[in-house]
Amino acid sequence: MFVDNPLDSSELIFPTLEVCHILGFAVTLGTIALLDLRALGLGLKRQALGDLARDFAPWTLAGLVSIFLSGPMLFSSDPDMYSLNRAFQFKMVCLVLAVVFNYTVHRKMVQSGKSTAWSKLIACVSLLLWAGVVGGGIFIGFA
Ligand code: HEM
Repeated sequence: MFVDNPLDSSELIFPTLEVCHILGFAVTLGTIALLDLRALGLGLKRQALGDLARDFAPWTLAGLVSIFLSGPMLFSSDPDMYSLNRAFQFKMVCLVLAVVFNYTVHRKMVQSGKSTAWSKLIACVSLLLWAGVVGGGIFIGFA
C-alpha cells in the first residue's frame, strides 16, 4: 500500500525541518559542550559544574526533542537512500553511544562536580562522540 509522504506536499517542508534539526542540535550540543569545557577547566570557572548541569538540562532535552522529531521526518523523505548511506549509519552509531553516555557516565560526572583527570577524560569522550554525530550528519551528502 503506497502512502503519500506529507514532505512531498510542499518544497518548503524539508528545509524547514532541517532548520528545526540544526537549531535542535545547536542547543543540545551547545549545552553539553559548555559543560565539557567547564569540566576541562576551559571556561565558566565562576559557576559550579553541578549548577550549570541543572540549569542546562531542560535545554539539552528540548533540543533532543526537536532533533528526534525532525530527524525521522527528514529520514522519511528517502529511507532507502539514508539507511544505506555509510555516513548516516556512522552517525546513528555515534548518536546512540553519545546519548547513552550523556545520560549515564557523563551525568554522574557533572553531578559530582569534581574536576579530576577522570572527569576531563569523560568530557573529551563526550566531545568526540558528539563531533562524530555532526560529522556523520554533514557527510551524508558526500558518502
Ligand atoms: C544529536 C543528534 C543529531 C545531530 C547532532 C544531527 C546532525 C545533523 C547534521 C549536522 C546534518 C547535516 C545538515 C546539513 O548538511 O544540512 C544532519 C542531517 C540529517 N539528519 Fe541529523 N542529527 C541528529 C539526529 C538525527 C536523527 C535522530 C535522525 C533520524 C533518525 C537524523 C536524520 C538526519 C537526516 C535524514 C539528515 C539529512 C538531511 C539531508 O539530506 O540534508 N538526524 N543531521
